[in-house]
Amino acid sequence: MRAGLRDIESRADCERLVRAFYGRALEDPIIGFIFTDVARLDLEAHVPRITSFWETVLLGARSYGGGAFRPHAELHAKVELRAGHFAQWLHLWSHTVDELFAGERAELAKAHALRVGRAFRGRLRTLPSPSGPPPGAAGLTVTQHGRRG
Ligand code: HEM
Ligand code: HEM
Repeated sequence: MRAGLRDIESRADCERLVRAFYGRALEDPIIGFIFTDVARLDLEAHVPRITSFWETVLLGARSYGGGAFRPHAELHAKVELRAGHFAQWLHLWSHTVDELFAGERAELAKAHALRVGRAFRGRLRTLPSPSGPPPGAAGLTVTQHGRRG
């Protein structure tokens, strides 16, 4: 446990964590575009909801009404949310938690994100998603790898 850090204790702590996370996520080279270009996230509308989610998970607040999976399914219908995107999301989240807080709730914040991320990814795999060409590519080129001759 890192010296000088305390645990997550209040809604204000949850919000601080969430804002610090999005500060990173929106700028991230791997997942940033999903928030800014695909979802066009309205951060000021989103922060209270996601803060309530964490307040519910970590502090037992019951301020979050549920239905967290659905917006991800809608996103996935626009751009495939791959295992690598989830790995990066979880990496940024864990890093942000460890930077700001230490303790049982901080550990729970990381553990629960991992569970939810795994569950989301598992459910999304079963749903169709466009895996179209990257932006700017002219047409779709099908390349087969791993075949010789
Ligand atoms: C105090 C304990 C807990 C609270 C308050 C809590 C709260 C939540 C909330 C609010 C969600 C989002 C649900 C939704 O939006 O529909 C969620 C999802 C989830 N939780 Fe927990 N949780 C707790 C403990 C656990 C534990 C112990 C596990 C597993 C061992 C777990 C695994 C999951 C998984 C896998 C999901 C994602 C489900 C899905 O939508 O596919 N949770 N939890
Ligand atoms: C590839 C990874 C992920 C991406 C790109 C992503 C992206 C997003 C976006 C864009 C929204 C806002 C949707 C909207 O309001 O229009 C959202 C909502 C949300 N995300 Fe994620 N997310 C990811 C993973 C996760 C994980 C692992 C968790 C687990 C803690 C999570 C929890 C939530 C919650 C609780 C909401 C709020 C849903 C609501 O409005 O009630 N997300 N996510």
